[in-house]
Amino acid sequence: MDVYEAVMSRRAVRGFNDRPVPRETLIRVLTAAAWAPSGSNIQPWHAYVVSGAPLDEIKKRTGRRLAEGDPWDEAEYEQYPPTLKSPYRERRAAFGALRYGAVGIAREDVEARQRAASANWACFGAPAALFCYIDRGLGRPQWSDVGMYLQTVMLLLRAEGLHSCPQMAWAKFHRSVAEVLSPPDELVLFCGMSIGYEDATSSRARTGRAALDETVTFVEG
Ligand SMILES: Cc1cc2nc3c(=O)[nH]c(=O)nc-3n(C[C@H](O)[C@H](O)[C@H](O)COP(=O)(O)O)c2cc1C
Repeated sequence: MDVYEAVMSRRAVRGFNDRPVPRETLIRVLTAAAWAPSGSNIQPWHAYVVSGAPLDEIKKRTGRRLAEGDPWDEAEYEQYPPTLKSPYRERRAAFGALRYGAVGIAREDVEARQRAASANWACFGAPAALFCYIDRGLGRPQWSDVGMYLQTVMLLLRAEGLHSCPQMAWAKFHRSVAEVLSPPDELVLFCGMSIGYEDATSSRARTGRAALDETVTFVEG
């Protein structure tokens, strides 16, 4: 698979089957992903790769909290500004319409949306997950480094025939994740990532992208 194909075939997949992800494959992917760039090569990512009983335990704990209506944990970082300005607001709304429309959920059906969103904390059925942490003391450039790392992981997963879904949703239940993984206190959970083989029957709604001239300016002589 060439890089273009990996980029174009990566999607946020929200339906996995239970076929296990071989450990050797994950080691190959994560060994290569470590070559992602970072400012001054400080490599600020801390990845926990979880499967089997520990992942089941994390899913069980969050599932119980959801069932009990337990509120989310206090936020350790702001996922979006309180008011999202244009054009981001419209893009987010278009995404929401696509994401929930694809599974037949209307905009005003808040309960059905919540139910669909709760699949986040079951990893959409995936048998493996990566929880990505960053040191609290690091700043925006290092968070950007972590993003590059995660995209590198996701592209390499495509090369292995695997799919993924990056999930900030996991940060909402960072305490439940920490109860199982026991990360050092200085780490903040940026996001989780479900990893596995796609369930062929799940929704394949494809997001769009802004036209090139909305996000790229060529300045030419
Ligand atoms: C940092 C990050 C966090 C995300 N968090 C979630 C999430 O919690 N749940 C989810 O279903 N998708 C999540 N996504 C997936 C995005 O919704 C998705 O990437 C975007 O809509 C573009 O669609 P595509 O990845 O299928 O091209 C996240 C993506 C990123 C990069």
